[in-house]
Amino acid sequence: MTVSRRDFLKSAGVTSLATAVTSAAVADAGAQTGPRVIGPGDVPVSLMVNGKRVDLRIEPRVTLLDAIRNRADLTGNKRVCDRGTCGACTMIVDGRTVYSCSTLAIEVQGKQIRTVDGLSTGNTLHPVQQAFCDVDALMCGFCTPGFVVATVALLEKYPNATPAQARRELDGNICRCGTFVRILEAAMTAKGVARG
Ligand code: FES
Ligand code: FES
Repeated sequence: MTVSRRDFLKSAGVTSLATAVTSAAVADAGAQTGPRVIGPGDVPVSLMVNGKRVDLRIEPRVTLLDAIRNRADLTGNKRVCDRGTCGACTMIVDGRTVYSCSTLAIEVQGKQIRTVDGLSTGNTLHPVQQAFCDVDALMCGFCTPGFVVATVALLEKYPNATPAQARRELDGNICRCGTFVRILEAAMTAKGVARG
């Protein structure tokens, strides 16, 4: 039997329509049984930052750093590399340091988030902040909020940290100005004074 070009195109059209319908049905079935999709538009996100609840509407892709700096107006922690290499954005989440530029805000709902903004009490600096001032442990200051937060976490973990422990716990932070010796001195000055 010979098949005309018209017959061939008709049957090809029916076949592709059937395939498309089947694919759509499979996709629908997947949508019903797969993981719940959130976003890409704004969704409610609730964070506990420095002991206070912050309710936001943000896209699920927003990082913890951007949510806190741009939406909660807590600008102490800095965005420097924005790719999890320098530590300037370090925050403490449930007792552990994280790079907030590489953590999604939506992932840390229900956790206790601490930023450098929440360390002082009124006009009284946290002992670690005071130690950084006392020993002049900064130059340009871009790395300082992250180092301060990381040092607070260090001394909460090891109240009488040795220099070796301090070096190890602070090794996720970089100071491009090279003030490492003074930063270590600040950590040693604050130890025994700084308590969680
Ligand atoms: S800004 Fe987050 S690690 Fe550098
Ligand atoms: S003081 Fe400038 S990067 Fe550390």
